Amino acid sequence: MNYIPYTPLANLPTPLDELPRLAKKLGLSKLMMKRDDLTGLAGGGNKARKLEYIFAEIVSGGYDVVVTAGGIQSNHARMTAAAARKLGLDVKLVLGGPDFTDLQGNILLDSLFGAEIRYLVDDDANDRLTDEMKRWGSELTAQGRKPYLLPIGGSTGTGALGYVKAMKELSVQFPDGPVQIITGIGSCGTFAGTILGCSLYLPQARVIGISVSRTIEGITQRTKELLKKSAALLNIQSNTEQIPIECYDRYHSEYGVMTNEGEQAIRLCAEFEGILLDPVYTGKVMAALIDLVEKNIIDRNIPVIFIHTGGLPIIFSFEKELGSSSRCTKIYK
Ligand SMILES: Cc1ncc(COP(=O)(O)O)c(C=O)c1O
Repeated sequence: MNYIPYTPLANLPTPLDELPRLAKKLGLSKLMMKRDDLTGLAGGGNKARKLEYIFAEIVSGGYDVVVTAGGIQSNHARMTAAAARKLGLDVKLVLGGPDFTDLQGNILLDSLFGAEIRYLVDDDANDRLTDEMKRWGSELTAQGRKPYLLPIGGSTGTGALGYVKAMKELSVQFPDGPVQIITGIGSCGTFAGTILGCSLYLPQARVIGISVSRTIEGITQRTKELLKKSAALLNIQSNTEQIPIECYDRYHSEYGVMTNEGEQAIRLCAEFEGILLDPVYTGKVMAALIDLVEKNIIDRNIPVIFIHTGGLPIIFSFEKELGSSSRCTKIYK
């Protein structure tokens, strides 16, 4: 397999934790969590692994400014901004979504990194975010800068390699045997890397992806493209078309909106295991896990590994929804 250069940005390996109380509650023989929310890099999350490979390209290519895009609460944008600053580079973000008055969650952190932001009000469509990113890139080039345009979510063949490496890491923590690995899907890079990594290092694993925005057809097509690109970078000869893709698209709402089931899953995980999930990604994935177990689509007798992909800052933009059940009694002197 080819060696691919990377720039260390994440705290690795992340722990593989047992979740015994939640396992019992759900009726699973064994439930573990791969704690990629603990990768570090300004709040943690899956993007740190992708960015290690992407920033190696950026640094070796001599780029002086990174331009990327995402929704108002993009974890990818926040972590790209942090990585750029850590490596002494300038950063520009094209973000979009509902209008806002106060900076909260990830967009607050983006501004702390001094990222210049262009915000598309009430519009987070990927193609328009990408168009604006390209426009900004051209402006920067005309000014004599060397911009690196980083696609939404960091989901390129190179970025997905972060999850091939994650599965190598996991195979040391969980020596091969039947296992069900569940992860969220946004731009598909984490899912594609996990599938490819399992085919190499955990061949008995069943990988289950949960969409937070795309349809099954969209995911399958994009994941196949990424699998092919990442395999080519690694010089893997096998036909990636043959690798099975299992994903579900019935657990999401409009992107960025919390579902009732997602909220219940967040509370369950917090109260049973002291672990925080987020409303946009991991809460929905946990809600899907609960439902797939109830429907016997996930086998209760085979261990389950939940990949916690991060997203912590998003909680702090849902204070109204999540704070409504607070059991706080104020005592005045
Ligand atoms: C917390 C979190 N989980 C999961 C995902 C999905 O990862 P990917 O975009 O690689 O599919 C993202 C991506 O934005 C994320 O921020």
